[in-house]
Amino acid sequence: MNRWSRTAAILVCSLVLSQNGPAIAQAPTAPTPPTLDGLGFIPKPRQVTLNGSTYTVPSTVVIAAQSSDERNVADLLQAFLAARGVHASVGTMISGSAPIRLTIHNVDPLIGAEGYRLKVDATGVSVTANTGAGLFYGVQTLEQLFPARASDGNTLTGVTVDDWPAYSWRGIHLDVSRHFFPVAVVERYIDLAARYKLNTFHWHLTDDQGWRIAIAHYPRLTQVGSCRAGTEVGHDETQTDGKRYCGYYTQDQIRQVVAYARRRYVTILPEIEMPGHSVAALVAYPQLACAPGAFKVRETWGVSTDIACPTERTFTFFQTILDEVMALFPGRYVHIGGDEVPKDAWKRSPFVNALMKQHHLASYDAVQGYFTRRIEQYLNARGRKMIGWDEILDGGVSKGATVMSWRGTQGGIIAARRGNDVVMTPDGPLYLDWAQGDEDFEPLAICCVSTPQMIYDFNPTPAALTPDQAKHVLGVQGNMWTEYIPTADHLFYMLLPRAFAVAEDGWTPAADKRWSSFAERSRKQFARLEADGIPFRIPNPTARITGGESVVAENVHRSLNETELRPSAATGTVALDDLVPDAVIRYTTDDRLPTAKSARYTSPVAFDLDRTPVIHLRAVAVLPTGRTSAPTTITLRR
Ligand code: ACM
Repeated sequence: MNRWSRTAAILVCSLVLSQNGPAIAQAPTAPTPPTLDGLGFIPKPRQVTLNGSTYTVPSTVVIAAQSSDERNVADLLQAFLAARGVHASVGTMISGSAPIRLTIHNVDPLIGAEGYRLKVDATGVSVTANTGAGLFYGVQTLEQLFPARASDGNTLTGVTVDDWPAYSWRGIHLDVSRHFFPVAVVERYIDLAARYKLNTFHWHLTDDQGWRIAIAHYPRLTQVGSCRAGTEVGHDETQTDGKRYCGYYTQDQIRQVVAYARRRYVTILPEIEMPGHSVAALVAYPQLACAPGAFKVRETWGVSTDIACPTERTFTFFQTILDEVMALFPGRYVHIGGDEVPKDAWKRSPFVNALMKQHHLASYDAVQGYFTRRIEQYLNARGRKMIGWDEILDGGVSKGATVMSWRGTQGGIIAARRGNDVVMTPDGPLYLDWAQGDEDFEPLAICCVSTPQMIYDFNPTPAALTPDQAKHVLGVQGNMWTEYIPTADHLFYMLLPRAFAVAEDGWTPAADKRWSSFAERSRKQFARLEADGIPFRIPNPTARITGGESVVAENVHRSLNETELRPSAATGTVALDDLVPDAVIRYTTDDRLPTAKSARYTSPVAFDLDRTPVIHLRAVAVLPTGRTSAPTTITLRR
C-alpha cells in the first residue's frame, strides 16, 4: 500500500469508529474560555483546573522577582507585557504583596527540574518552580493565557496549573549549511521554539555545501569553505543557478546566539560533521583527504564520497575545532555528525588499509568506529558527551555515546537495548523538511509528506523497549534540513504548526495526547502567530458529514486533500471548519480549485447523491491578508 492509500484507509477506519461524534459543525471562531481546550495551551499541561475567577492585568503592574533567574524571567515577561500596553516594573520586594509573583523555591519534588506551578486568581498571578527553566515554562503558560491579540485586552481566566515534562530532550534542529540564516532569524526560531517549551536547539553548522562557523585556528574554513559557486535548481542535480552563495557566523555572533538561547533556557547543541559531509572543510584544507585533490564546495544536494581521512593530521584538525566549539557552547553535548559516510576513498587508501592492520579493524565501518571513539574520548576528557547520527552504531560505539535515531526508530531501539542514550528524530515523521500536506499544493520539498498529525501521533518511546531500556530514550527532536528552504518566511512556514506537535510529543505523556484536543487548542496559537505576523502553514479546512446517520471526518487535515466518502444516506450536509480564527472558508462544487474569490462558506453545504451521484466539494481557508490554505477535497459518492 502506498502512503496515500494507507492514509486513506486510516481515515476510513476512523470514520467507522467515530460515528458518535458531534453532527453539528463547530462555529469557525475559537470558543471562549472557560473550557480547558479553549485556553489553548500547547503543549498540554499535566493538570489544569479552572478556579472560577478572573484577573485583569492593570496597565501598570509590579512583577516581584529577586534571584537572577527570577529577574531574567521577569524581564522577558515585562517585554511581553509592554507589547500589550502594560507597563510592568520588576521589583525585588518580598513577593507577598505584588500582583505578579515569580518564585524559585528549589524544594518541590513533584515538578522536577523543568516543571512549574501557575496560579491565577482574583488577587493576581503566581508562578513557582525549582529552577529558572521551570519558572520560564510557567511564564510561557501564563503568556498563552492572555487573549491571542493584544487588542482583546489582558483579562486572564483563573487557573491552577501543575506541570512538568515527559522527556528531558525536546529538540529542534536547523541546518544552516544548505541555506544560511542570519542571527536575527536564528534568534526568532529559538524564541518560537522556547514558547512551546522546546529546550534544545541543534545547530547544524557544517556540511558539504558550506562551513558556517568561524574557527580562529583555521581561517580558510570560512574564507573559502563558506561560499559555493551555485545552488542546485529544483531536483535536478545537473543544474545549478550559478549564483555565488556565502554565509557564516563570527564567534561573537555565536556567543550572542548562545546568550540569547540561554536566557530562554534553550541549550544549543552544536554539530560539526565528521568524517563525512565535510567537503567544505576539504576545500579549505585538502590535505585532510586520503587523496588530496581540487575539491569544490558542493553546489548540489545528496551525499559526497569525499570524506576526511582518519590520519593524525585530521584528528588534530577536528580536535582543535572542537576546542573552539567547546569554548563557545557551554552545553553538555557536542554532535559530531557521523551520518552518510561512503567508504570509497578509505577503501582506496593505503594509509587506511595499513591503519586497519595496525588496529585490527575488520571493516571500513570499524574504521569509522575507531574514528568516532577517538573523538568521543577527546570530548569526554574535557567533560563533554558525544552525540552522533545512528550510523555511529555501525562501527561500534562506547556506552557513553548518545545516538540520534534518524533512519526511522530502529537505530534508537538498537541503541537503547545496548544501553546507549537515544534521541528520537526519525525521518518521517520528524523531518520538518518534508511537505506538510499534498505535495501538489506545498512548496517544493526534498520529498515525502509529514503532516502535523503524523508528528503528533509519534510516540518517542517505541513499544518494543522494556521499561529499563525505555529509560535511555531522552526525548524527541524535529529536524529542519534546508536544501529546499531558502528564506526565513519559508522556514517559519515549515516550522509551524509542526513544532506544536513536536513540543507536545516531548512534553505531554503519550497517554494524555488527543489529536482533537490538540487541534482545538491550536486555534489560539494560530491566532497568536497571526497577530505576530509569523507566516505559519494554514491548515486545510476540516469537514464533517451529516446525513441520515452522522459521520465525522475529523482527520481531513491529516493531509488528505482528497478524501472519498460514501455517506450512508443519499442526502445530508457537509459542515466545514477551519482552525485559524479570522479565516474565512471559500469553496467550490464545480471541480474548480477554490480561490479567495470563490463562494464564501456560511453554513453546511447540502448534498443529494440521488440527483448528483459524485460530488467534489473543495474548500480553502483564507486569512484576511489573502494567504490561503491548501485545498481540502471531499468526494462524495453513492
Ligand atoms: C541525516 O538526515 N543525514 C541525518
